[in-house]
Amino acid sequence: MCIEIDNKKRLFSLNTKHTTYQMVADSHGFLRHIYYGRKIGSFDMRYREYYSDCGFSPNPYELQTQRDFSLDTRSMEYTGCGIGDFRPGCVRLTNGDGSFSADLRYVGHSLREGKYRIPGLPASYDNGGQCQTLCIDLKDDVSDVIVSLYYGVFPEQDMIARSAVVKNCGKQPIQLYKAASACLDLPFGTWDLIHFQGRHCMERMPERTPVPHATVNISSGRGASSHQHNPFAILAAPETGEDNGPCYGAMLVYSGNFKIEAECSQMQSTRLVAGISDEQFCWHLEPGESFYTPELLLSYTDRGLTALSQCYQDFVAENICRGPYKDGSRPVLINNWEATYFDFNAETLCGIARQARNLGVEMLVLDDGWFGQRDDDTSGLGDWFVNEQKLGCTLPRLIDRIRKMGLKFGIWVEPEMVSQNSQLYRQHPDWALTVPGRNPTVGRGQLVLDLSRKDVVDYLYATFSQLLRSNAIAYVKWDMNRHLTDVFSRELPPQRQGEVFHRYMLGLYDLLERLTQEFPQVLFEGCSGGGGRFDAGMLYYFPQIWCSDDTDPIERLKIQYGTSFGYPIRSVGSHVSASPNHQTGRKTPLNTRAVVAMSGTFGYELDLQLLSAEEKEEIRRQIPKYKRWQSLIFHGNYYRLTNPLRDDYFTAWQFAAKDGTQALLNLVVTAPKANPYPIHVTLKGLDPEGMYREEGSGMVYSGAALMYGGYTLPILLGDYPSVQLYFEKIGFQDGDGASRNGNH
Ligand code: GLA
Repeated sequence: MCIEIDNKKRLFSLNTKHTTYQMVADSHGFLRHIYYGRKIGSFDMRYREYYSDCGFSPNPYELQTQRDFSLDTRSMEYTGCGIGDFRPGCVRLTNGDGSFSADLRYVGHSLREGKYRIPGLPASYDNGGQCQTLCIDLKDDVSDVIVSLYYGVFPEQDMIARSAVVKNCGKQPIQLYKAASACLDLPFGTWDLIHFQGRHCMERMPERTPVPHATVNISSGRGASSHQHNPFAILAAPETGEDNGPCYGAMLVYSGNFKIEAECSQMQSTRLVAGISDEQFCWHLEPGESFYTPELLLSYTDRGLTALSQCYQDFVAENICRGPYKDGSRPVLINNWEATYFDFNAETLCGIARQARNLGVEMLVLDDGWFGQRDDDTSGLGDWFVNEQKLGCTLPRLIDRIRKMGLKFGIWVEPEMVSQNSQLYRQHPDWALTVPGRNPTVGRGQLVLDLSRKDVVDYLYATFSQLLRSNAIAYVKWDMNRHLTDVFSRELPPQRQGEVFHRYMLGLYDLLERLTQEFPQVLFEGCSGGGGRFDAGMLYYFPQIWCSDDTDPIERLKIQYGTSFGYPIRSVGSHVSASPNHQTGRKTPLNTRAVVAMSGTFGYELDLQLLSAEEKEEIRRQIPKYKRWQSLIFHGNYYRLTNPLRDDYFTAWQFAAKDGTQALLNLVVTAPKANPYPIHVTLKGLDPEGMYREEGSGMVYSGAALMYGGYTLPILLGDYPSVQLYFEKIGFQDGDGASRNGNH
């Protein structure tokens, strides 16, 4: 039993392997947060609480003589509105009489085995574990609004999943302007906020800043989780580093508009509130209707950022991702985008495929430009029938030729979009998100389809299920190349226009659920101009996401570093592209491009026919190397050994098998130096007692030596040189330091 309830005290203790989360429904019915941190079992932690009368922090009506009780200063589980908590709140609504009031008090709870689900939304699942769900109901007695708080406790994974449901049990409609998934109050300490900002071609750059006495707002109003912000944040103590110190993670399982707020209060407590963004959000709830918020994944460790990252990486891979590919190996692919862009036909593609097959590649992915009138990005989106004139043959014929070469076939699609110059738009202009009487904003020349409409979603399902049913397609790259503007649906009445952003996500998730369930054998890769929708919501449907449109390996070091804080390495789409790189113009060695791309789902994205014989030979060696290490890379523990945003000499990162039997050290010199000082790294995740043989040199080291004393590399000169060193455990160390079955 990971959830312990003291019914007399109404004290709830949620225990995972290393953590305890505690709250109490007090005698007034307020659900107060008591503790979240290192495991303390069910010990009542209220002894830590101290409150005094705080000027201008008001008191609940029945507690007006007890001036030290204010909702403005207490740690709360989920806040109402209009009743004296002036910190960032969870719910903002108007009742039938127009009042902005919600006084949420405990009315009951229930406990059950297994993990709750959220209708229409992606959420973590139990995956054969010992998850339990606690549901606590809070009610406003005047309006009869009930907020049900769900806690899914994953004991082995140290994860607590939270979600809230707002139900209108009253007789009047209500307007919901904000409905957060969860709130986390930390009563003591000072905290840094680590969040992941960026832009197209430079996603998820970690930024660390002390939580100020003001609300920091990490959010997206773009209709996608976005390149600019990611729905994942960390609260870390100022002293917390990779291997030490307390930190909390908060990850939303949602791909649309979101908001994560953090604030240090007047009483030095810290609050984090996370959920759907309240910008342009207003949900109309008729009597009897409910609103389901997305899930927030909370975790805590006192062992630093590496431990927190490994916790999220494993959890997302095991308890969010689904389908036959979630654990399995992924084919090494060749994508024609950076090889040909829009300029190709069947012969060009077959030429690339033939060359790729000869080098050991396993799948050809046909990117943008195969459908409708699509020779550039100004037209054709929406017309999902093959352009036989351009290709020179039918799609089945092309696929047949590719498959006869022994390659699988994958295809690019961008279903959520429509070009103004397309048959679909001419037939159904009302299917695009536009505001009547206004010219719509365009992005990459295209408009967004209104996925809040069931007829549009059904049409897309029919179109893409037909494409997958009638063709031997093994892989789909699902793109989304602009953000949402002019968010207005012609199907909804005026008072429901504030629902369109979220209804779009519900429509998209419905479409993805139908397609991925019907075609489980298809490997889906998410994409949004690279990593513009890289989040746990998408990973519920797609086990991998194209990490960035920036394929420059030196830039990718930073992007993949940032991505690793929350997301599994096997979800990171990563390819070797041409040199000079198309985004930066930088020249890098082929080996370095492969070293970086191997820390993800490996593939190539260049015209292999243009390479020299030596380069082709090198690729012939790279692919078996990756295949041999894929399981270690996918299932091992991942360690950031340097910080590429800070350290300019070299970047190093490492994989270690969970049982310590093997390790792979990766290192890229990012700024070679004259008269260089030594390149020295300390390895992690090895068995200190074990003896490890380095592949190639045959040198044997103890795990303790490599982890505590480190490893010094020979000087690496030239443009962006790199190395990969593989260590295999060959036995154990004797007391005198010699290996028992080693050869050193
Ligand atoms: C997006 C993707 C690219 C490529 C192009 C095609 O930018 O991120 O990888 O597929 O679209 O238009």
